[in-house]
Amino acid sequence: MAEFALPTNSKIRSKGKVHKAAPDATAVKQFKVYRYDPETGENPRYDTFEVDTATCGPMVLDALIKMKSEQDPTLTFRRSCREGICGSCSMNIDGTNTLACTKAIEDVKGEVKITPLPHMDVIKDLVPDFTHFYAQYSSIKPWLQTVTPPPSGKERFQSPEDRAKLDGLYECILCACCSSSCPSYWWNSDKFLGPAILLQAYRWLADSRDEMTGERLDELEDPFRLYRCHTIMNCANVCPKGLNPAKAIAEVKKMVVERQI
Ligand code: SF4
Ligand code: SF4
Ligand code: FES
Repeated sequence: MAEFALPTNSKIRSKGKVHKAAPDATAVKQFKVYRYDPETGENPRYDTFEVDTATCGPMVLDALIKMKSEQDPTLTFRRSCREGICGSCSMNIDGTNTLACTKAIEDVKGEVKITPLPHMDVIKDLVPDFTHFYAQYSSIKPWLQTVTPPPSGKERFQSPEDRAKLDGLYECILCACCSSSCPSYWWNSDKFLGPAILLQAYRWLADSRDEMTGERLDELEDPFRLYRCHTIMNCANVCPKGLNPAKAIAEVKKMVVERQI
């Protein structure tokens, strides 16, 4: 039987630091935050931050910003829009991949545990390495590809019905919450494109203006790139935008079958 073990330098060894709230804090909530700094050579640890939620915004991202500005400026995480639009602040909060800026602190009972997205290399603290994820995104050529000139000479029109086919696809913000919750992606991310990238691939297949459907399907029709999805549905359960990558993957598989009959 295969045995799996974490590399020794990835194991949590020390108890971590405790960052106390100010003595006049009135509503203290504890946050347990994963810390890892490759420059120190130390193993990862969990630090405890006591945050006064009475003087903090309502979202987990507000708490992280407060920790960084008042307790530990070295705490590292990504964020930009704080509106659930940019996808930068994806992380695992209370055991679920989600966006820190749209996750309400009050929705977590007790201590709030925060780790980076699982099964991705960690650059520092809560920042995962998206290099491979973006390379996979680039591989599906995520732009409109055409061979014929636009009929109007200016732009390519789309009927309201055809435009509606992109609903549930164009809203993807590439946060990777779905891919990093997919067991098939955990074990085969070197070859399986994963739910986020396959949803994006379907977004272009579903676009009435795109003229590279055959070539796109040729690229996807592969035992690993597409068919490692076993419809486990974690992806649809975690998507913070309410999208359903598993359904998009099923549509791609259907297109592959339909072109053969
Ligand atoms: S449905 Fe497919 S892509 Fe989604 S989590 Fe399951 S295996 Fe992964
Ligand atoms: S499908 Fe949802 S979870 Fe996946 S990358 Fe797009 S927005 Fe994020
Ligand atoms: S900061 Fe942009 S999605 Fe959270």
